Amino acid sequence: MAEPAPPSKTHMPRKTVQELVLSGEEIPGNYIQKDRNGVDLDVPLAEIPVVNLTSLSTSKEELEKLQSALSSWGYFQVINHGISFLDEVREVTKQFFKLPEEEKRKYSREADGVDGYGNDKIISEQQILDWTDQLYITISPEDQRRLKFWPENPKSFRDILHDYTIKLEMITEVIFKAMAKSLNLEDNCFLDQYGKEATMIAGFNFYPKCPRPDLVLGLKPHTDAAAITILLQDKEVEGLQLQKDNQWFKVPIIPEALLIGVGDTAEIMSNGIFKSPVHKVVTNSERERISLAVFCHPGSNEEIGPVDTLVDESRPRLYKKVKNYADIYFQNFGHLGKRAIDAVKI
Ligand code: OGA
Ligand code: NI
Repeated sequence: MAEPAPPSKTHMPRKTVQELVLSGEEIPGNYIQKDRNGVDLDVPLAEIPVVNLTSLSTSKEELEKLQSALSSWGYFQVINHGISFLDEVREVTKQFFKLPEEEKRKYSREADGVDGYGNDKIISEQQILDWTDQLYITISPEDQRRLKFWPENPKSFRDILHDYTIKLEMITEVIFKAMAKSLNLEDNCFLDQYGKEATMIAGFNFYPKCPRPDLVLGLKPHTDAAAITILLQDKEVEGLQLQKDNQWFKVPIIPEALLIGVGDTAEIMSNGIFKSPVHKVVTNSERERISLAVFCHPGSNEEIGPVDTLVDESRPRLYKKVKNYADIYFQNFGHLGKRAIDAVKI
């Protein structure tokens, strides 16, 4: 790991990407990918399976599709999830990011916090920055919410996010049960580890237009620490790419679907059967893009590890038991693209 950057003298908050764009300055060097091949925008489409949530627990065919999706792509799209207001969620996201910087800064992230408005912390001079401004909010359990980070503007933001949370809590339960069923395991084996104190964190992303998509990434390649991530994509603008067998693919948009991704924690619980895919976001010179990623983490007191029935002589235990994997992930720079899961390999 590179040397940490000297503490800045001014402690002024760093410019957001939106301010950078408005200032008309050239793209600062620390946003430019040093990789000589640049960013490949022209990659094949990922044929990610589409799963129907209403028949997921009863249809053998849907369960097989799910199992194959999770162990190859590490992603599936889910339809018939019963959420009728996805466009409203997208709309309040856009409206929040359109507010003046001064208004958004009321919700600025604190130095050591997760929740709040900001962009990536600079911890080394070599770090390449992401072309995105973000708002992170803990949405579940309700008693861990910190309302001061919940925008009051637009007016309906809080209500819509609350309603969305309730729906996602129900959907995650169905999905974890189906994940177990798809491996012929007892229904609750993943849910038991995910626990009653599970935490859901909403990450709202805004990717401004970028004049050099060939040189700048919206998000650097990374895996997610969570058990699963529920991603609401922009309805019109693509940008997410994922890696499979060392090749990049772009993720198609299905406007009415949620994209569910395996995170490192589910890879650990499944003893490596489910794949936590490396993914990144490319930028776009013509259009800005929004997305909302909800990260579903087990409670910090829950011990997670490979489910016993997935460990045998032909499939030895691949991962140690861990608590609070999200901390391990950050300590090992998972958010900066390092393979943090290697730290818990046996
Ligand atoms: C993330 C992420 C994808 C996207 O926030 O971890 O991968 O499309 N987002 O914004
Ligand atoms: Ni991600």
